[in-house]
Amino acid sequence: MDVVRHVKELQHRADEMRAAGRRIALVPTMGALHEGHLELVREARRKADVVWVTLFVNPTQFGPDEDLASYPRTFDQDCSVCEREGVDLVFAPDPEEFYPEGCQTWIEVTELSQPLCGAARPTHFRGVSTIVPKLFLAAKPHVAVFGEKDFQQLSIIRRLTRDLCFDVEILGVPTVRESDGIAMSSRNKWLDPRRRAQAAVLYRALDTAELAVRGGVKDVALLNEIVAKELAAAVDAEVDYAEFRDPETLELISGELCGPTLLALAVFFPIPGLKGPDQVRLIDNRVLPAGAAQNLSNVKSNVKSNASSNTRSTDK
Ligand code: PAJ
Repeated sequence: MDVVRHVKELQHRADEMRAAGRRIALVPTMGALHEGHLELVREARRKADVVWVTLFVNPTQFGPDEDLASYPRTFDQDCSVCEREGVDLVFAPDPEEFYPEGCQTWIEVTELSQPLCGAARPTHFRGVSTIVPKLFLAAKPHVAVFGEKDFQQLSIIRRLTRDLCFDVEILGVPTVRESDGIAMSSRNKWLDPRRRAQAAVLYRALDTAELAVRGGVKDVALLNEIVAKELAAAVDAEVDYAEFRDPETLELISGELCGPTLLALAVFFPIPGLKGPDQVRLIDNRVLPAGAAQNLSNVKSNVKSNASSNTRSTDK
């Protein structure tokens, strides 16, 4: 497996591959690889002749108070994992390769970047939507693979790929989870056992909402109540957002669901201790089906009585 450090060299390799008629699949990551990332690598392998993984902690997608300094950097381990997975090439540039002195060019996907994670992290998606095109221009892939775990990021990448006329196929891969349902993330390691156990509420909230929708509940106010009840079980968690949105436009849904609907969740957990960040933010999401009720009135009244029996103090 080759390790490339410079954009020019990667572009040269890409030209050689393309001239030889070989399809390149790119898997952009910030390293600290886990099973979620490896699933992207496997999907990439199925879709192309060569698989290139990027390991680059992109500084511009971190806000001033975020965890850039403490973001895990496990380069040697990541390379071993990639080698084992049959990755052909790892691209690990220094930040100066992408952000040379005097760099002043940015890409913004204006509307999709506003809500959800963009609301609490106002410059985050500008960083993502600038680095991803740079990675495309460096690696010249035919296919690029991303996780559905970062649903908003994937939407933004699909949109910028279309808007900027990149000739790159974007593939989304379903979220890879731990046995209790929590989405794999390099940030999970900061959670102490107590918060780690509580973090499973995100998955439970998605499940409960899906059950309700499949049972015929369409009323967004009621669904919000159901989700809030589940999330309240995590006594240490502070909910950043729990929202029902259009999966295409990310516009907020109000009133009744009338088609597949994104439920997007983000929760903060405090991290007591001296090392690392002082809080961790976990996200999760699911696209819920439109929901066709068989026995609508029964389901509605059941769900309603469950929802209103909740109080935060009943738990744990
Ligand atoms: P990173 O957080 O390292 O994630 C790299 C890719 O892995 C993203 O496409 C992300 O959605 C996917 N991923 C992470 N956890 C996953 C899981 N549990 N299941 C499935 N896929 C998962 O996302 C980034 O890096 C950066 O923003 C990047 C796109 C590389 C730009 O810097």
